[in-house]
Amino acid sequence: MAAYEYETHDYDVVVVGAGGAGLRATLGMAEQGLRTACVTKVFPTRSHTVAAQGGIAASLSNMGPDHWQWHMYDTVKGSDWLGDTDAMEYLAREAPKAVYELEHYGVPFSRTEEGKIYQRPFGGHTTEFGEGPPVQRTCAAADRTGHAILHTLYGQSLKQKAEFYIEYFAIDLIMSEDGVCQGVVCWKLDDGTMHVFKAKMVVLATGGYGRAYFSATSAHTCTGDGNGMVARQGLPLQDMEFVQFHPTGIYGAGCLITEGARGEGGYLTNSEGERFMERYAPTYKDLASRDVVSRCMTMEIREGRGVGAEGDHIHLHLNHLPPEALHLRLPGISESARIFAGVDVTKEPIPVLPTVHYNMGGIPTNYWGEVLHPTAEDPDRIVPGLMAVGEAGCASVHGANRLGSNSLIDLVVFGRAAAIKAGKVVTPGATNATPNAASIQYAFDRFDGLRHAKGNIGTAELRLEMQKAMQADAAVFRTDKTLGEGVAKMQAVAGKMDDISVSDRSLIWNSDLMETLELTNLMPNALATIVSAEARKESRGAHAHEDYPDRDDAKWRVHSIAKVDGIKVDLSYRRVVTDPLTKEDAGGIDMKKIAPKARVY
Ligand code: FUM
Repeated sequence: MAAYEYETHDYDVVVVGAGGAGLRATLGMAEQGLRTACVTKVFPTRSHTVAAQGGIAASLSNMGPDHWQWHMYDTVKGSDWLGDTDAMEYLAREAPKAVYELEHYGVPFSRTEEGKIYQRPFGGHTTEFGEGPPVQRTCAAADRTGHAILHTLYGQSLKQKAEFYIEYFAIDLIMSEDGVCQGVVCWKLDDGTMHVFKAKMVVLATGGYGRAYFSATSAHTCTGDGNGMVARQGLPLQDMEFVQFHPTGIYGAGCLITEGARGEGGYLTNSEGERFMERYAPTYKDLASRDVVSRCMTMEIREGRGVGAEGDHIHLHLNHLPPEALHLRLPGISESARIFAGVDVTKEPIPVLPTVHYNMGGIPTNYWGEVLHPTAEDPDRIVPGLMAVGEAGCASVHGANRLGSNSLIDLVVFGRAAAIKAGKVVTPGATNATPNAASIQYAFDRFDGLRHAKGNIGTAELRLEMQKAMQADAAVFRTDKTLGEGVAKMQAVAGKMDDISVSDRSLIWNSDLMETLELTNLMPNALATIVSAEARKESRGAHAHEDYPDRDDAKWRVHSIAKVDGIKVDLSYRRVVTDPLTKEDAGGIDMKKIAPKARVY
């Protein structure tokens, strides 16, 4: 048994992660007088939300007619009918309120001539329930929207006296014997001390797991830490097979070029100089949903029409747009293209390639952010004391494919919803339960075992094996063969965790140990992804299965539920919520409008 001394902290709420969702939850909790701590492995304004570029979707109607029902319809269709209807209604209805709150908190949005929040077109966002032209719904702060939101929310959280524990790495959840979350065990990276945070509510806002792949727009910190913690407690992950490839990662570097570039008039061409999206998506063209655009780009490359010496990527043109418009609306990606592709966007196209960008799957929750542990008898069973928001959570509002700019709005709408719910179920200042000593000991034993690991394979080497396997076999297009091989490869890779080697035994700034802990989080995410993908015998959203090219609603309009135990993944399925929050006669959605149909753009 490993013996570590630790400091104990007592809070009403502990939020793990300080990206957009974590900060919005932290702020909302603190505003209500809940004693709130936010623990984060990086400085808050370095969280991955800072990299979000194009904007945040809300039907403000600043640039033309729009309605929350149209936004909801687009989200339902974007999800390929796998999203939960209640959550999607909540998102679209609450979005304008959440954006105006951001404005009032001080987010420096770009402005129209009349001083309204500027909104741009984004893929899959339309008018008239998909019958009208594209809508300008994505509220932007140039192409640095995430940066603007993150800084504002951090400042506001400090103003509300939320307490930040910065560069603390969350090792594991503390769970009572009867399954109540009681807090979290953390390691302080800069001095090596250990910390036990007790809380009535723990909110996981730890982001996605893009780094399970070789090439991703995600920061290196996106290692699915909350998902890993949940999996280790025997709790499930949902819809993990749905991994989004963003059409325009910079070729080679993987950095994001915002979809806002196409929103502002950019377009894609193949080696023949053809605007090929006109062939695949005659109505919305380059502004089709991103899973569709990524597949079309991949098909062009596979059919020999890729650009470059190896014909393995595509061109994104902005060089026809006025330089002053690029400077005003897209300064960030103009700089990225120069630095990472050596391209002057006013003169040349940017070389781009579909790149892993977002995880639709994650920790199952209801639309209040409460974590679910579904059973056959009770598919909506709640895990007391535990919430998950943002990319870590799966509400499920994005279903099989997320629309661009629905991520930032997800962060703030559901971060805010978690705070509203916590305000109702948490009694401020009430005494916290004594945390389960065995659960704390489990965290220390696991930590200590990794710290002294003397195996034969280094963390970086094993991580690369995992990333290569995922990149090759859980790709834009999948087949029974690639997925079967992927499962076998990933089981072999995950099996090597027992043979891991850590060379640095110290406790202060031990990046070798931290990356090993992160790898123990990435691994269950990767396993759940490949196994859930292998099992799903249809094509839906981001899961494009060449042996089963059609969507099969009769059999597969269900959420996958994956429990990971070592290298074993146990799969079950849960119903999709098809009831909205409010029916049409109560001011809600016309159900006929959002009924499943073929998804064409
Ligand atoms: O393209 C982008 O700016 C990314 C936005 C998003 O993923 O929502």
